[in-house]
Amino acid sequence: MSISEIQSYIAAIEKDASLYQEKNFERRIEVLDFIEASSGQLIALKNRAEKIRDKLLEIDANLFQKLQADIRTGRYTGKEFKNLVDDYVRFYSDGNKHQGEPGYDNLDIFINGLSPLQTMPEQTKDLEPEMVYYQKTPARIVFELVEKAHFTKEDVFFDLGSGLGHTAILVNLLTGIKTIGVEFEPAFCVYARDCAAGLNLSNVTFKNMDARNADYSEGTIFFMYTPFGGEMLREVLAVLKKESLLRKIKIITYGPCTAQVASQGWLNSAAPEDDNIYKLAVFS
Ligand SMILES: C[S@@+](CC[C@H](N)C(=O)[O-])C[C@H]1O[C@@H](n2cnc3c(N)ncnc32)[C@H](O)[C@@H]1O
Repeated sequence: MSISEIQSYIAAIEKDASLYQEKNFERRIEVLDFIEASSGQLIALKNRAEKIRDKLLEIDANLFQKLQADIRTGRYTGKEFKNLVDDYVRFYSDGNKHQGEPGYDNLDIFINGLSPLQTMPEQTKDLEPEMVYYQKTPARIVFELVEKAHFTKEDVFFDLGSGLGHTAILVNLLTGIKTIGVEFEPAFCVYARDCAAGLNLSNVTFKNMDARNADYSEGTIFFMYTPFGGEMLREVLAVLKKESLLRKIKIITYGPCTAQVASQGWLNSAAPEDDNIYKLAVFS
């Protein structure tokens, strides 16, 4: 029997209410025999599919090992890194696909594959009120951030609430500039440091501390994917305001914190006009 015949037979017996009437004993024998006989065929098909899946996963595992080794040589920063990504992922810049939500796509799967560590660590500390739990910035948003920030070689990029370090690492790979992540959760910071070390990225550092207490004296571009809100965000913005009196800075936001940042009188806003919180907003 072909797979499509098995499918049709199963569809028919699913609808056959008479099977469930006690007196139809012999009909049940017939159906149970069929299920027994066809399951061998279905298992064989599943095994064939799994063989193909394992081969494909092996190709990907080898590819990512090779690419990680390439990145470790230091040859793939800036344009070279962007070209490398373009060689493998072509469909991430579909701006319409994830409008209004922080969805993930093939670019995230590819960028995740470049990470030398694959298992997310357990959170070890409880978040304080107003702190926001970890959620990764979609990779296409980081690519867009790099386009919109107009980085120069002298810029120093901070990710406030850097989580597992993806954004600080990706901005460094895309630009070559110095990047610093500030993260409250120690286990996330260790993970992020190990990833940067595993890719031999010496210009990426992670500070395990509360963003309210960090030293921002080097920073020129500050990114926040809504790491905290309320009074905590007000306190951090007051610290950044002090920095802005010493040199020009940019603040780039993503998610619900954009509205609170946009209400700061000392910042010039280039917030998206349509009030979509899942679009990057650039303030200077
Ligand atoms: C929405 S995630 C941001 C993810 C990260 N920026 C990225 O691009 O992948 C928020 C992060 O902020 C961290 N966080 C919350 N409050 C913080 C604080 N006061 N200081 C430092 N990190 C904080 C959380 O632990 C969490 O990892």
